[in-house]
Amino acid sequence: MSDKPKIQVIKKGPYVVQNIPSVKDSEDNPIERDNPSLCRCGASKSKPFCDGTHASIDFDDTTSDNGPTKEFEGKDITIIDNQKICCHAGYCVKGAEKAFFTFDGDKRISHPDKETKEKIIETIRKCPSGSLAYKLNGELSDKYFDKAEVQILKDGPILVRGGTTLKNDEGREPIAKDHYVLCRCGASKNKPFCDGKHKDIKFNDDE
Ligand code: FES
Repeated sequence: MSDKPKIQVIKKGPYVVQNIPSVKDSEDNPIERDNPSLCRCGASKSKPFCDGTHASIDFDDTTSDNGPTKEFEGKDITIIDNQKICCHAGYCVKGAEKAFFTFDGDKRISHPDKETKEKIIETIRKCPSGSLAYKLNGELSDKYFDKAEVQILKDGPILVRGGTTLKNDEGREPIAKDHYVLCRCGASKNKPFCDGKHKDIKFNDDE
């Protein structure tokens, strides 16, 4: 059996985390359990762990809104953007707003020539979801982290960093293989990825 870090997405069930030594909570406290099964339906009474409730609620894990991944080519850098896997961390607004919040009619688009390449890179590297990525000279730059780790955010999604393979029946892959954000509230329309719906439904770890 491979000992590479991996997250298996069980159909209509939990995430099974394998070979990832660092699994921690929002406050960086380690979660001491080997290869944990993490709830992704949002209904477990033992969050963040799966307690089997997905079966009794007949958890629907279908995806209804993938959203297109678009590339915006500029003179020094290409921005890759899929707004449907944005977890609303907000670094793009605080970082290089003009590059990511240009409008074409009522559609938000990215514009790589509206900020410096350095500022765009710095901002994109803070984006945990990988909904924003970049290419230099046509090559995707997405190696940000050296070691595999998982962090479970309070009342929010699961951050995955460090080149962890995502295995799922649908074959869905993150844009940036190095880091991505998984839904654990059960409400995302772009499962298994978080699309920010946990805020709309006021997802609460304690319920
Ligand atoms: S945890 Fe973000 S949409 Fe479910």
